[in-house]
Amino acid sequence: MAAFSEQRVLSVRHWTSSLFSFRVTRPASFRFRSGEFVMLGLMVDGKPLLRAYSIASPSWDEGLDFFSIKVADGPLTSRLQTIQEGDTILLGAKSVGTLVHDALLPGKRLYLLSTGTGIAPFASIIRDPETYERFEQVILTHTCREAAELAYGEALVASLKDDPLVGEHAHRLVHYTSLTREDHPRTGRITALMDSGQLWAETGGPLDPATDRVMICGSLNMINDCKARVEAAGLDEGSNARPGAFVVEKAFVG
Ligand code: A2P
Repeated sequence: MAAFSEQRVLSVRHWTSSLFSFRVTRPASFRFRSGEFVMLGLMVDGKPLLRAYSIASPSWDEGLDFFSIKVADGPLTSRLQTIQEGDTILLGAKSVGTLVHDALLPGKRLYLLSTGTGIAPFASIIRDPETYERFEQVILTHTCREAAELAYGEALVASLKDDPLVGEHAHRLVHYTSLTREDHPRTGRITALMDSGQLWAETGGPLDPATDRVMICGSLNMINDCKARVEAAGLDEGSNARPGAFVVEKAFVG
């Protein structure tokens, strides 16, 4: 099997000067679990240039959604940000990842902690009916620098109630946003909101290792800082080989 295939861009939306999302065709043979990532890219100077991208659409969807940062001098995103409907991108044949239900033990509350484009895998998870079969409540946290960066997540969550498969469960999803460099009803890093107890006070109590599960996606520092706090609460890290109480994955940058 070829390592990647050519797929057609179905739509592109620019959210800010540094964030955009796009949808591409999904090969009939391409299977993935909600929350996984895949290699994606373009031909550059006659050679394939691919990077790991979280799939932002759920596994039942006919197309594949992605949410990306734009980096002016990024080898891939400087070019990818100019794609338009009808263009061709390269898509890896196989998806992998740890932000999947299989890597978590059963629980009651599911925290999805994200910063920046780290929300992408959770755009998949919150639209997967399995999420609401496995958990009573889902808390999606999204922390960004500025308000405009929250728009993608806000539109996504707003569309949930009209979703044919998970719309009836939309009331069980809490969208918990905060900003760090602009005024907002809630400000501060997610780690600060944990330390002050504000996150737990606003979402129904501190982490309980018996019933709470956590997925974390953001920068390496964000992951490490969140992981330290989640571990201090007594949660053990899971993997595909051995499910646990929390899982982490780095958001793509560049
Ligand atoms: P801050 O503005 O205080 O750096 P970035 O684009 O740098 O990844 O940041 C995205 C969001 O994640 C910002 O709101 C940023 O806050 C926050 N952030 C950055 N580093 C950490 C960290 N180590 N722990 C928690 N949040 C972080």
